Amino acid sequence: MSLVRQAFAWLKPRAVRLRAVALDPRARSETMTRLRFGTRVHQDLSVSAPNRYPRLFASSAGLLADRPAGRILSFGCAAGEEVLSLRDYFPHATLVGAEINPVLLARCRRLAPDPNRTFIASTPDNIAAHGPYDAIFAMAVFTRRPHEVEARGFREISRHYPFALFARDLRFLASQVAPGGLLIVEHALYRVEDALAWTALAEAFRPVEGAGDWLAKGPRFGPDGRIIEPQPRIARIFRRGGV
Ligand SMILES: C[S@@+](CC[C@H](N)C(=O)[O-])C[C@H]1O[C@@H](n2cnc3c(N)ncnc32)[C@H](O)[C@@H]1O
Repeated sequence: MSLVRQAFAWLKPRAVRLRAVALDPRARSETMTRLRFGTRVHQDLSVSAPNRYPRLFASSAGLLADRPAGRILSFGCAAGEEVLSLRDYFPHATLVGAEINPVLLARCRRLAPDPNRTFIASTPDNIAAHGPYDAIFAMAVFTRRPHEVEARGFREISRHYPFALFARDLRFLASQVAPGGLLIVEHALYRVEDALAWTALAEAFRPVEGAGDWLAKGPRFGPDGRIIEPQPRIARIFRRGGV
């Protein structure tokens, strides 16, 4: 990429961002969250939508059909969109939404009441206090501005989004999955297996074959921060052994 194109690719998202922060309270809250919580924040944008992952939600519900009244965590639940969607797939489950952005968390708590649903500030203590979980969904959280990663053609992301941040929280979430439960990770810049490798959890988790494994959308990076080529097929649903 030429220097001019590189400079443009760097400048454009920042100019767009500056405008959004000036005009949009949600964008402002994202920036404030990043300033306040620093390296505790993974993806610092909060784009979400109802029923964003129908295949993964449906497959997970099928895999947990024998545990209909389980406990489910949506890690990085934005303004509650994902938790509302999960209710359609898990009508009897206890749903917990964890969000780090206080403005979005307040919005979650203003949703129409559901006696079997809680929203919590995303800290390890709060998450552990409501677990263990039959399923943990971490969707579009273990990433950082992936469109910028693609637009700027990053081949190495260890300064943009260090593997250690991903591994730290991915391992913690894995530790909160109940035996026989599921860990579902979508739109991460790194691979789940790489975070679990060489830990006590590596042997406990296996990708579920035939569900959630297809080509990655966008680039994936190895623990050294370097791009994996060719773009790999990745697993998204992992089951913890035991019952
Ligand atoms: C792109 S949104 C994804 C929302 C939803 N999971 C989805 O896929 O539609 C990412 C969300 O993760 C949140 N987030 C980032 N780091 C977090 C952390 N450490 N704990 C909980 N939420 C976090 C952000 O504030 C943002 O709301």
